[in-house]
Amino acid sequence: MKRLTEFDQLADPTFSGAVIDWQRQHGRHALPWQNTTDAYRIWLSEIMLQQTQVAAVLEYYARFLARFPTLQALAEAQSEDVMALWSGLGYYTRARNLHACAKRVVAEYGGTFPSEPALLAGLPGIGRSTAAAISAFSSGTRAAILDGNVKRVFARVFGIEQYPGIKPVEDALWRRAEALLPATGIERYTQGLMDLGATLCTRARPDCARCPLRERCIAFATGRTAELPVRKPKKTTPEKRAAMLVIVDGGQVLLEQRADSGIWGGLLSLPEVDGHAAHDAPAPDALAAAGRFGMVEEMQALLPLVHVFTHYKLHIAPHKVALERRGAAVAGHVWWELAQIDKAPLPAPVKKLLLQLAAPNLFG
Ligand code: ADE
Repeated sequence: MKRLTEFDQLADPTFSGAVIDWQRQHGRHALPWQNTTDAYRIWLSEIMLQQTQVAAVLEYYARFLARFPTLQALAEAQSEDVMALWSGLGYYTRARNLHACAKRVVAEYGGTFPSEPALLAGLPGIGRSTAAAISAFSSGTRAAILDGNVKRVFARVFGIEQYPGIKPVEDALWRRAEALLPATGIERYTQGLMDLGATLCTRARPDCARCPLRERCIAFATGRTAELPVRKPKKTTPEKRAAMLVIVDGGQVLLEQRADSGIWGGLLSLPEVDGHAAHDAPAPDALAAAGRFGMVEEMQALLPLVHVFTHYKLHIAPHKVALERRGAAVAGHVWWELAQIDKAPLPAPVKKLLLQLAAPNLFG
């Protein structure tokens, strides 16, 4: 018996059949870059349509073609003229790549776009999906597209629960995209996927009632169209916690000289207490730690504050300590006049905290 490969398992001719039938009846048929096999016109449209919607592209497309009717004309243009015609469309790298690509096709391919997707994808501004679209529309090549719209359609129909922007998920989507290609009718299928993604299977309000893939759509069946595709995971910044002692005595506060290395290297700061986990409870070791500096009269947890660094978030739990009696000097520590605290070399969040405490009404 023949073993089924992953490719065979993903294949399903009824998928492309449904897309093709729908495109024939309900897709877009009169866009200015359709009904032609002119690779120049198709390429230009695909570049303009990267990251830009059809409605915004139409006017630019017409003006661009009027000014540069052929690839040769574009290749010979001044780059300022190309940029000027692109002005307002955004993502200007596209315009620079467009011009560079025109020159390369003239220089390397005699002014005719290659038909092979792999060769197209070697040209400036043409990625794998754009190469496939150009090749399918201009030469009927059976090549798979996978742009943002198609990723969304696939994520919903197949219930893909991982973020499609990461490599292994994207690789799996490419394998699916290739396995699902129709034996014939690649142009209509490719256009149908684009039309579906742009007109029905939209990000915010998909029109599932009209969708030809509704019966096979996992997101629809499970009520998860709003959740799929899953959004780019937010980078979670690591969080650290530090309990700090604000030991005050006679109008002075005790500061610790920090080691030269590390984030606050060389600065003075408040003494820190190890092993602080929760920010709504006093640090268990705070009292013992404070005892190094004298006889503690009273300890009071102040409101915690948060300081955001580029690579982590620091929760500071300040513990205010009043001493009954100051102990012997401890190496690496100094007493600093609170009234002069603005002159101390302190990390910003610590300075802010101490300035608040030094305000006479707040600090008795
Ligand atoms: N988006 C990308 N390519 C497109 C095309 N050929 N037609 C409509 N929208 C598109």
